[in-house]
Amino acid sequence: MVDKVLSVTNLTKKFKDRVAVDNVSFNVYEGEIVGLLGPNGAGKSTIIKMITGLSKITSGDVIICGVSIKNHFEKAIRNVGAIIETPNMYGYMTGKQNLKYYANLYKGIPKSRIDEVAELVGLKDRIKDKVKTYSLGMKQRLGIAQAILHKPKILILDEPTNGLDPNGILEMRTFLKKIAKTEKTSILVSSHILSEMEALCNTVAIIDKGKLKQIRSVHNLSSELGIKSKIAIKVNYPNFAGKLIMNKFGYNVDVAGQNVVCEMLEKDIPAVTSYLISMKIPIFGITSVSKSLEQMFLDVVNGNE
Ligand SMILES: Nc1ncnc2c1ncn2[C@@H]1O[C@H](COP(=O)(O)OP(=O)(O)O)[C@@H](O)[C@H]1O
Ligand SMILES: [Mg+2]
Repeated sequence: MVDKVLSVTNLTKKFKDRVAVDNVSFNVYEGEIVGLLGPNGAGKSTIIKMITGLSKITSGDVIICGVSIKNHFEKAIRNVGAIIETPNMYGYMTGKQNLKYYANLYKGIPKSRIDEVAELVGLKDRIKDKVKTYSLGMKQRLGIAQAILHKPKILILDEPTNGLDPNGILEMRTFLKKIAKTEKTSILVSSHILSEMEALCNTVAIIDKGKLKQIRSVHNLSSELGIKSKIAIKVNYPNFAGKLIMNKFGYNVDVAGQNVVCEMLEKDIPAVTSYLISMKIPIFGITSVSKSLEQMFLDVVNGNE
């Protein structure tokens, strides 16, 4: 049996009369990476703040490793490592000094753990440099290293990729997966970007207007949702290729530089590409143009699907 690390039951938050989180329930199991996915204002941060004790629960409960945060907050929260908003760190100290400082706040963290976490988040080479010389991505990594010093059962991160460039996002994804695997740490992470959650998580909980809309394993989330993919196909004569696609498949197309950009059902992508090739149009690349969940919701609402 896989251990249940976090159990959120009927969690509700009201700000005066407004319900920001409405009866949300979900579980996180050992080593699992769970994403809270939803547009801005959906209630993701409020859920995470209630789980970590930063916001008072209106009703419902949060059980961490079998312990309710309502009854035994200290005992429950010991199993959590979290970064909410910006992590605290001292710019005039080195990364290593920061980690030592935080390690001293807990009992019984061995010295070797500091090098271990630095290695896990890929900061080994820069750990002796002052934090004020770090990029945003490196600061995020140091924050995560701090959060996992005490080997928590669950790591909780609110929109950790905000402000990172694509490379930084990719790096973070890689080491978060590594942490989940090597330390058997569960991770609860929020984002408003579907493609990001798809690439990182095992399970995604879709939150909208405070409600949990769906919870599902990530395998092929976008096609299961019946959502079209926006793709860019790089060819020599994009205008001509675009016309062919439009005539044959009835899709609307745009041309951007050398690319034909077109939103199509994923299952049609092989047919479109083989058709272009059969028409003697060589393809130099296909990229998927990611679309934020917010845009997808708008598409659903506006009937563009
Ligand atoms: N301290 C607060 N007082 C009043 N309303 C709040 C407060 N914090 C958040 N809200 C409201 O709760 C809703 C959910 O916000 P939030 O959890 O920050 O969403 P998300 O993190 O998904 O963007 C929003 O409508 C927001 O305006
Ligand atoms: Mg938020």
